[in-house]
Amino acid sequence: MSAEAVPVVAPDAALEPAPASALVETRDLTRRYGTSIALNSLTLTIPQGAIFGFIGPNGAGKTTTMRILTTLLLPTSGQAWVAGHSVVREPQAVRRMVGFMPDFFGVYDNLKAWEYLDFFAAAYGVPASRRTAMIDELLDLVDLSHKRDAYVMDLSRGMKQRLSLARTMAHNPELLILDEPASGLDPRARVELRELLRELQLLGKTIMISSHILTELAEMCTHIGIIEQGTLLAAGDVQTMMHSLQPHRIYEVHVLSDLPTAADLVREVPGVLSVRELPNESPPMLQIDHEGDEQQVGALLTRLISGGAIVTHFAGQVSDLEEVFLRITAGTVASE
Ligand SMILES: Nc1ncnc2c1ncn2[C@@H]1O[C@H](COP(=O)(O)OP(=O)(O)O)[C@@H](O)[C@H]1O
Ligand SMILES: [Mg+2]
Repeated sequence: MSAEAVPVVAPDAALEPAPASALVETRDLTRRYGTSIALNSLTLTIPQGAIFGFIGPNGAGKTTTMRILTTLLLPTSGQAWVAGHSVVREPQAVRRMVGFMPDFFGVYDNLKAWEYLDFFAAAYGVPASRRTAMIDELLDLVDLSHKRDAYVMDLSRGMKQRLSLARTMAHNPELLILDEPASGLDPRARVELRELLRELQLLGKTIMISSHILTELAEMCTHIGIIEQGTLLAAGDVQTMMHSLQPHRIYEVHVLSDLPTAADLVREVPGVLSVRELPNESPPMLQIDHEGDEQQVGALLTRLISGGAIVTHFAGQVSDLEEVFLRITAGTVASE
């Protein structure tokens, strides 16, 4: 623990421990460059095991946040912890926990893929006796075993990204922070990246991943945070955010019994805004526009069944995550 790093943060405040359940926790994290504010009082929690998508346009403050969390940059004020370790007071402990993939690859063209990993594993202090097996495992994990002896310069962009990701794993960190890893990848390479992230999540890793293109992240994240001009606009788990940001939702109900009778059953149920009968669908269905909570959705189905309707299907329409994003950001986050 180094004492020199402390002055940017009020000493008594910096001693507060982070809540135990969160792997990443920031409180009023602020970074100024001269008079401009790159990051404005960011308060954020990333639970253990999450794939957290950090979404915002260029210049929003994503890289700044990631550099602070990886101890490469000091905050002007505020606090941040990784697994309970303060990024300001315990940078060494934080670095052991975190693997960082920056948004540029760097130049290591005269190295072979395995040499590249060997170089970084050595830098992380992995003993030579363990490195060979570890490198094989990492190459296998990112599906590059067949490129073990290829020069880094000859790899495709997608392969370079995966190699770079393997590098961030060389010291087996709990938390992976990946800055715009999908940018510039073709669709196939993106799918491969997404599968790789799922695999890493299954291995117990927590992943923070940024993008200025929301569709890149929409399908792979368990949690999201949306940032604009240094300010967090919204954050939370994807399900809850979808729910809280959708004022109402359409439920589709397939009905085998008489449709008008079923419709009459639910018209007056609390939360129901309107009921549409679609007798010519196969099977015939009701579309119920509903603004209630989960309890009321349950009551809706109970009403149908107890009223004698024969229901074979009951489901809320899935609305696009993208739609939800656009609602929060008023269109300033790119949708590609
Ligand atoms: N070294 C720096 N000096 C001055 N301004 C900077 C510096 N680094 C970043 N900024 C500014 O901080 C803001 C946030 O940048 P950044 O965190 O890189 O955003 P993002 O990664 O979301 O694109 C931008 O306005 C950027 O111009
Ligand atoms: Mg950036």
